[in-house]
Amino acid sequence: MPKLGLIGCGAMGSALAKGIVKHGGVSPDNFYVYDIVPERMEDLVLSLGCRSGNLEELCRECDLLILAVKPQDVENVLASMAGFFRKEQLLVSVAAGISTRSIEKLLPAGSKVIRLMPNTPCLIGAGAVAVSSGKEVTLEELEYVESLLTPLGMVKRVPEKLMEAVTGLSGSGPAFAFYFIEALIDGGVEAGLSRDLATDLAAQTVLGAARMLLESGRHPAELKNAVTSPGGTTSAGLLALEEGAARAAIIKAVTQAARRAGELKRE
Ligand SMILES: NC(=O)c1ccc[n+]([C@@H]2O[C@H](COP(=O)([O-])OP(=O)(O)OC[C@H]3O[C@@H](n4cnc5c(N)ncnc54)[C@H](OP(=O)(O)O)[C@@H]3O)[C@@H](O)[C@H]2O)c1
Repeated sequence: MPKLGLIGCGAMGSALAKGIVKHGGVSPDNFYVYDIVPERMEDLVLSLGCRSGNLEELCRECDLLILAVKPQDVENVLASMAGFFRKEQLLVSVAAGISTRSIEKLLPAGSKVIRLMPNTPCLIGAGAVAVSSGKEVTLEELEYVESLLTPLGMVKRVPEKLMEAVTGLSGSGPAFAFYFIEALIDGGVEAGLSRDLATDLAAQTVLGAARMLLESGRHPAELKNAVTSPGGTTSAGLLALEEGAARAAIIKAVTQAARRAGELKRE
Protein backbone atom coordinates (compact mmCIF):
# COMPACT_ATOMS: atom_id res chain seq x y z
CA MET A 1 0.00 0.00 0.00
CA PRO A 2 1.40 3.45 -0.89
CA LYS A 3 2.63 5.65 1.96
CA LEU A 4 1.50 9.27 2.05
CA GLY A 5 3.06 12.32 3.68
CA LEU A 6 1.64 15.75 4.51
CA ILE A 7 3.88 18.82 4.71
CA GLY A 8 2.00 21.68 6.41
CA CYS A 9 -0.71 20.76 8.92
CA GLY A 10 -2.73 24.00 8.80
CA ALA A 11 -6.36 24.47 7.78
CA MET A 12 -6.21 22.91 4.32
CA GLY A 13 -3.57 20.27 5.10
CA SER A 14 -5.60 19.02 8.08
CA ALA A 15 -8.82 18.93 6.03
CA LEU A 16 -7.10 16.87 3.33
CA ALA A 17 -5.52 14.56 5.90
CA LYS A 18 -8.80 13.94 7.73
CA GLY A 19 -10.72 13.34 4.49
CA ILE A 20 -8.14 10.92 3.13
CA VAL A 21 -7.36 8.96 6.32
CA LYS A 22 -10.87 8.80 7.78
CA HIS A 23 -12.28 7.45 4.50
CA GLY A 24 -9.67 4.75 4.21
CA GLY A 25 -7.59 6.27 1.38
CA VAL A 26 -4.57 5.27 3.47
CA SER A 27 -4.16 3.56 6.84
CA PRO A 28 -2.98 5.83 9.69
CA ASP A 29 0.17 3.69 9.88
CA ASN A 30 1.06 4.68 6.33
CA PHE A 31 0.36 8.38 6.77
CA TYR A 32 3.12 10.76 7.93
CA VAL A 33 2.78 14.43 8.84
CA TYR A 34 5.24 17.29 9.27
CA ASP A 35 4.85 20.97 10.21
CA ILE A 36 7.30 23.52 11.56
CA VAL A 37 4.79 24.08 14.38
CA PRO A 38 5.04 20.82 16.40
CA GLU A 39 1.63 21.27 18.10
CA ARG A 40 -0.19 21.30 14.73
CA MET A 41 1.54 18.10 13.73
CA GLU A 42 0.77 16.48 17.11
CA ASP A 43 -2.93 17.43 16.86
CA LEU A 44 -3.19 15.39 13.68
CA VAL A 45 -1.19 12.50 15.14
CA LEU A 46 -3.61 12.42 18.09
CA SER A 47 -6.80 12.74 16.07
CA LEU A 48 -5.87 10.36 13.24
CA GLY A 49 -3.40 8.00 14.90
CA CYS A 50 -0.93 8.71 12.07
CA ARG A 51 2.86 9.14 12.31
CA SER A 52 4.99 12.28 12.35
CA GLY A 53 8.47 12.82 11.00
CA ASN A 54 10.82 15.45 9.66
CA LEU A 55 11.12 16.39 6.00
CA GLU A 56 13.93 13.91 5.39
CA GLU A 57 11.92 11.06 6.95
CA LEU A 58 8.81 11.93 4.92
CA CYS A 59 10.85 11.97 1.70
CA ARG A 60 12.47 8.66 2.60
CA GLU A 61 9.25 6.86 3.64
CA CYS A 62 6.50 8.22 1.40
CA ASP A 63 5.46 7.53 -2.18
CA LEU A 64 3.29 10.62 -2.34
CA LEU A 65 3.81 13.96 -0.58
CA ILE A 66 1.08 16.57 -0.16
CA LEU A 67 2.49 20.08 0.05
CA ALA A 68 0.04 22.28 1.99
CA VAL A 69 2.11 25.27 3.08
CA LYS A 70 1.37 28.90 2.12
CA PRO A 71 2.47 29.82 -1.41
CA GLN A 72 5.26 32.06 -0.05
CA ASP A 73 6.75 29.07 1.87
CA VAL A 74 6.77 26.65 -1.07
CA GLU A 75 10.22 27.57 -2.38
CA ASN A 76 11.82 27.19 1.07
CA VAL A 77 10.23 23.80 1.69
CA LEU A 78 11.21 22.48 -1.73
CA ALA A 79 14.77 23.75 -1.21
CA SER A 80 14.92 21.89 2.14
CA MET A 81 13.70 18.70 0.41
CA ALA A 82 16.10 19.00 -2.52
CA GLY A 83 18.60 16.39 -1.34
CA PHE A 84 15.94 13.84 -0.34
CA PHE A 85 13.11 13.98 -2.90
CA ARG A 86 13.22 11.22 -5.52
CA LYS A 87 11.70 11.67 -8.95
CA GLU A 88 9.66 8.43 -8.65
CA GLN A 89 7.71 10.13 -5.84
CA LEU A 90 4.57 12.14 -6.49
CA LEU A 91 4.27 15.69 -5.19
CA VAL A 92 0.73 17.04 -4.78
CA SER A 93 0.60 20.78 -4.17
CA VAL A 94 -2.37 22.82 -2.95
CA ALA A 95 -0.49 26.13 -3.02
CA ALA A 96 -2.64 28.71 -4.81
CA GLY A 97 -1.04 30.31 -7.84
CA ILE A 98 2.09 28.11 -7.97
CA SER A 99 2.25 26.23 -11.28
CA THR A 100 3.32 22.60 -11.68
CA ARG A 101 6.07 23.91 -13.98
CA SER A 102 7.59 26.18 -11.32
CA ILE A 103 7.49 23.33 -8.77
CA GLU A 104 9.07 20.92 -11.28
CA LYS A 105 11.94 23.39 -11.73
CA LEU A 106 12.69 23.22 -7.98
CA LEU A 107 12.72 19.40 -7.89
CA PRO A 108 14.98 16.84 -9.60
CA ALA A 109 14.48 16.67 -13.40
CA GLY A 110 11.57 14.39 -14.36
CA SER A 111 9.67 14.87 -11.05
CA LYS A 112 5.92 14.20 -10.99
CA VAL A 113 3.77 17.10 -9.78
CA ILE A 114 0.00 17.42 -9.37
CA ARG A 115 -1.70 20.66 -8.44
CA LEU A 116 -5.02 21.03 -6.59
CA MET A 117 -7.38 23.90 -5.96
CA PRO A 118 -9.61 22.83 -3.05
CA ASN A 119 -12.08 25.02 -1.16
CA THR A 120 -13.02 25.25 2.51
CA PRO A 121 -16.16 23.03 2.37
CA CYS A 122 -13.63 20.19 1.90
CA LEU A 123 -13.51 20.42 5.72
CA ILE A 124 -16.97 18.82 5.83
CA GLY A 125 -16.68 16.57 2.78
CA ALA A 126 -18.68 18.97 0.59
CA GLY A 127 -15.84 20.70 -1.20
CA ALA A 128 -15.01 21.25 -4.85
CA VAL A 129 -11.47 20.26 -5.85
CA ALA A 130 -9.93 21.02 -9.25
CA VAL A 131 -6.95 18.88 -10.27
CA SER A 132 -4.24 19.49 -12.91
CA SER A 133 -1.20 17.39 -13.58
CA GLY A 134 2.35 18.22 -14.59
CA LYS A 135 3.93 16.72 -17.69
CA GLU A 136 5.55 13.68 -16.01
CA VAL A 137 2.40 12.35 -14.30
CA THR A 138 0.72 9.24 -15.78
CA LEU A 139 -3.06 8.87 -16.12
CA GLU A 140 -2.97 6.08 -13.53
CA GLU A 141 -1.22 8.35 -11.00
CA LEU A 142 -3.70 11.16 -11.66
CA GLU A 143 -6.64 8.78 -11.20
CA TYR A 144 -5.13 7.49 -7.97
CA VAL A 145 -4.87 11.03 -6.55
CA GLU A 146 -8.43 11.81 -7.66
CA SER A 147 -9.66 8.68 -5.88
CA LEU A 148 -7.96 9.84 -2.67
CA LEU A 149 -9.75 13.19 -2.95
CA THR A 150 -13.32 11.99 -3.56
CA PRO A 151 -14.19 11.90 0.20
CA LEU A 152 -13.55 15.67 0.26
CA GLY A 153 -16.30 16.41 -2.25
CA MET A 154 -16.57 16.88 -6.01
CA VAL A 155 -13.33 16.36 -7.95
CA LYS A 156 -12.89 17.90 -11.42
CA ARG A 157 -9.92 17.47 -13.74
CA VAL A 158 -9.05 20.77 -15.46
CA PRO A 159 -6.29 22.02 -17.77
CA GLU A 160 -3.86 24.02 -15.64
CA LYS A 161 -4.46 27.23 -17.61
CA LEU A 162 -7.97 27.29 -16.06
CA MET A 163 -6.74 27.20 -12.44
CA GLU A 164 -7.12 30.99 -11.99
CA ALA A 165 -10.72 30.82 -13.23
CA VAL A 166 -11.35 27.92 -10.83
CA THR A 167 -9.82 29.97 -8.00
CA GLY A 168 -12.23 32.84 -8.82
CA LEU A 169 -15.27 30.55 -8.86
CA SER A 170 -14.95 27.64 -6.42
CA GLY A 171 -11.85 28.79 -4.48
CA SER A 172 -13.30 32.20 -3.54
CA GLY A 173 -16.90 31.07 -4.10
CA PRO A 174 -17.66 29.94 -0.53
CA ALA A 175 -17.08 33.55 0.60
CA PHE A 176 -19.47 34.83 -2.08
CA ALA A 177 -22.05 32.24 -1.02
CA PHE A 178 -21.69 33.24 2.66
CA TYR A 179 -22.14 36.88 1.62
CA PHE A 180 -25.35 35.98 -0.26
CA ILE A 181 -26.64 33.92 2.67
CA GLU A 182 -25.86 36.76 5.08
CA ALA A 183 -27.86 39.14 2.88
CA LEU A 184 -30.78 36.67 2.77
CA ILE A 185 -30.70 36.55 6.59
CA ASP A 186 -30.73 40.35 6.82
CA GLY A 187 -33.70 40.36 4.45
CA GLY A 188 -35.53 37.83 6.60
CA VAL A 189 -34.86 39.89 9.73
CA GLU A 190 -36.08 43.05 7.97
CA ALA A 191 -39.24 41.15 7.01
CA GLY A 192 -39.83 40.22 10.68
CA LEU A 193 -38.10 36.86 11.30
CA SER A 194 -35.80 36.22 14.26
CA ARG A 195 -32.12 36.05 13.23
CA ASP A 196 -31.85 32.40 14.29
CA LEU A 197 -34.84 31.34 12.24
CA ALA A 198 -33.70 33.46 9.26
CA THR A 199 -30.22 31.87 9.44
CA ASP A 200 -31.57 28.32 9.35
CA LEU A 201 -34.03 29.10 6.55
CA ALA A 202 -31.44 30.97 4.45
CA ALA A 203 -28.75 28.28 4.73
CA GLN A 204 -31.19 25.42 4.04
CA THR A 205 -32.65 27.30 1.07
CA VAL A 206 -29.23 27.73 -0.58
CA LEU A 207 -28.25 24.13 0.23
CA GLY A 208 -31.53 22.80 -1.16
CA ALA A 209 -31.34 24.90 -4.33
CA ALA A 210 -27.75 23.76 -4.98
CA ARG A 211 -28.70 20.10 -4.45
CA MET A 212 -31.73 20.43 -6.73
CA LEU A 213 -29.55 21.90 -9.48
CA LEU A 214 -26.95 19.11 -9.22
CA GLU A 215 -29.45 16.28 -8.80
CA SER A 216 -31.93 17.36 -11.50
CA GLY A 217 -29.34 18.25 -14.15
CA ARG A 218 -31.74 21.03 -15.23
CA HIS A 219 -30.66 24.54 -16.21
CA PRO A 220 -30.81 27.04 -13.29
CA ALA A 221 -33.06 29.37 -15.34
CA GLU A 222 -35.54 26.51 -15.83
CA LEU A 223 -35.65 25.83 -12.08
CA LYS A 224 -36.01 29.57 -11.39
CA ASN A 225 -38.84 29.95 -13.90
CA ALA A 226 -40.65 26.99 -12.35
CA VAL A 227 -41.07 28.93 -9.08
CA THR A 228 -41.81 32.33 -10.65
CA SER A 229 -45.53 32.76 -11.22
CA PRO A 230 -46.92 35.75 -13.17
CA GLY A 231 -47.26 38.82 -10.93
CA GLY A 232 -46.15 36.75 -7.91
CA THR A 233 -43.81 37.20 -4.96
CA THR A 234 -40.71 35.64 -6.54
CA SER A 235 -41.11 37.76 -9.67
CA ALA A 236 -41.18 40.89 -7.49
CA GLY A 237 -38.01 39.74 -5.70
CA LEU A 238 -36.20 38.93 -8.96
CA LEU A 239 -37.01 42.41 -10.30
CA ALA A 240 -35.33 43.89 -7.20
CA LEU A 241 -32.21 41.78 -7.89
CA GLU A 242 -32.11 42.96 -11.52
CA GLU A 243 -32.56 46.60 -10.46
CA GLY A 244 -29.65 46.17 -8.06
CA ALA A 245 -27.50 44.72 -10.89
CA ALA A 246 -26.89 41.65 -8.72
CA ARG A 247 -26.11 39.37 -11.69
CA ALA A 248 -23.43 41.75 -13.04
CA ALA A 249 -21.95 42.13 -9.53
CA ILE A 250 -21.68 38.34 -9.11
CA ILE A 251 -20.13 37.84 -12.55
CA LYS A 252 -17.61 40.56 -11.71
CA ALA A 253 -16.86 39.02 -8.30
CA VAL A 254 -15.76 35.79 -10.01
CA THR A 255 -13.82 37.45 -12.82
CA GLN A 256 -12.07 39.93 -10.49
CA ALA A 257 -11.09 37.10 -8.14
CA ALA A 258 -9.74 35.11 -11.11
CA ARG A 259 -7.83 38.18 -12.34
CA ARG A 260 -6.35 38.68 -8.85
CA ALA A 261 -5.30 35.00 -8.76
CA GLY A 262 -3.39 35.61 -12.01
CA GLU A 263 -1.72 38.71 -10.53
CA LEU A 264 -0.67 36.81 -7.38
CA LYS A 265 0.80 34.06 -9.55
CA ARG A 266 2.99 36.61 -11.40
CA GLU A 267 4.04 38.28 -8.11
N1 LIG B 1 -7.47 27.52 3.31
C1 LIG B 1 -8.09 27.48 2.13
O1 LIG B 1 -9.28 27.72 1.99
C2 LIG B 1 -7.32 27.13 0.88
C3 LIG B 1 -8.01 26.95 -0.33
C4 LIG B 1 -7.28 26.60 -1.47
C5 LIG B 1 -5.90 26.44 -1.41
N2 LIG B 1 -5.27 26.64 -0.22
C6 LIG B 1 -3.81 26.50 -0.18
O2 LIG B 1 -3.47 25.63 0.86
C7 LIG B 1 -2.18 26.00 1.34
C8 LIG B 1 -2.22 26.00 2.84
O3 LIG B 1 -3.16 26.98 3.25
P1 LIG B 1 -3.72 26.98 4.74
O4 LIG B 1 -4.85 27.93 4.76
O5 LIG B 1 -3.92 25.58 5.20
O6 LIG B 1 -2.46 27.62 5.48
P2 LIG B 1 -2.04 27.46 7.03
O7 LIG B 1 -3.24 27.20 7.85
O8 LIG B 1 -1.15 28.63 7.32
O9 LIG B 1 -1.16 26.11 7.03
C9 LIG B 1 0.14 26.03 6.55
C10 LIG B 1 0.97 25.32 7.61
O10 LIG B 1 2.28 25.09 7.09
C11 LIG B 1 3.22 25.49 8.09
N3 LIG B 1 4.52 25.76 7.49
C12 LIG B 1 5.07 26.93 7.09
N4 LIG B 1 6.31 26.74 6.62
C13 LIG B 1 6.57 25.41 6.73
C14 LIG B 1 7.69 24.61 6.45
N5 LIG B 1 8.82 25.14 5.97
N6 LIG B 1 7.63 23.29 6.68
C15 LIG B 1 6.50 22.74 7.20
N7 LIG B 1 5.40 23.46 7.53
C16 LIG B 1 5.43 24.79 7.29
C17 LIG B 1 2.57 26.71 8.69
O11 LIG B 1 3.21 27.11 9.89
P3 LIG B 1 3.18 28.72 10.23
O12 LIG B 1 1.78 29.04 10.59
O13 LIG B 1 4.14 28.83 11.37
O14 LIG B 1 3.66 29.42 8.99
C18 LIG B 1 1.15 26.18 8.88
O15 LIG B 1 1.04 25.34 10.00
C19 LIG B 1 -1.84 27.35 0.75
O16 LIG B 1 -0.82 27.22 -0.22
C20 LIG B 1 -3.12 27.82 0.11
O17 LIG B 1 -2.88 28.53 -1.09
C21 LIG B 1 -5.94 26.97 0.93
